[in-house]
Amino acid sequence: PRYFALLPAAGVGARMAANGPKQYLPVGGKPLLRHAVDAFRASSLVAHTYVVVSADDGQIDGVLPPGLDGVTVLRCGGATRMDSVLNGLRVLHGQLSDTDLVMVHDAARPGLTPALIEKLVLGVGDHPAGGLLALPVVDTVKRAGGSGSDQVATVPRTGLWLAQTPQMFSYALLLRALGSAPDANAITDDASAVEMLGLSPRLIEGHPRNLKVTLPADIRIAEMYLAAAE
Ligand code: CTP
Ligand code: MG
Repeated sequence: PRYFALLPAAGVGARMAANGPKQYLPVGGKPLLRHAVDAFRASSLVAHTYVVVSADDGQIDGVLPPGLDGVTVLRCGGATRMDSVLNGLRVLHGQLSDTDLVMVHDAARPGLTPALIEKLVLGVGDHPAGGLLALPVVDTVKRAGGSGSDQVATVPRTGLWLAQTPQMFSYALLLRALGSAPDANAITDDASAVEMLGLSPRLIEGHPRNLKVTLPADIRIAEMYLAAAE
């Protein structure tokens, strides 16, 4: 099969509250978004990488110059992450075939490595529901009642995982899943849309270094992992 990467990078970074979208913040010497793009470019498994940005993005050309080997920028970002991924898939109609495998990866996860990409590909194999990197929950989990912060229960962590990306599915399945998902705001990853079709994507153990840079403190954690050997 052929493997492609699709990176949604059209968010505004509200929780980072920086001066501009977080994907352009310097992290370990290069713009945040460039790390994951370079991991896919360095993987011999990946045929091509597509990056979805907003139509009015004024910074992407400086980070991914037109003509950069192995990468194409799609200016079709949407209002939600799901919309950005779905718009990208629709733009690629005709270029990707139904059985091509698409790895969707948050542009805000700079710690991805070619080794993790390979682990996902080998772990998912030809599983019909696809699969994703994820981490077993290590903390004790509490459920709060109503809208308050009073604890009502401890949720056994056995069997609980934290979803990471990449998440890999066939082009046809991912397009069908996201195209039929009821509420774009409720879909925070691609696997959940596939689950709504009654399918069970496979969980492949990822790595803490593959964290999503969401809050200001995450930048230094990401830099620590980037400076360390795999
Ligand atoms: N994303 C996107 N289009 C959107 C929203 C998010 O392509 N409309 C992308 C982000 O750029 C990011 C990934 O989806 O690479 C994961 O989203 P998140 O970490 O939530 O990033 P933001 O939405 O930018 O951050 P926030 O939710 O804090 O505003
Ligand atoms: Mg967001």
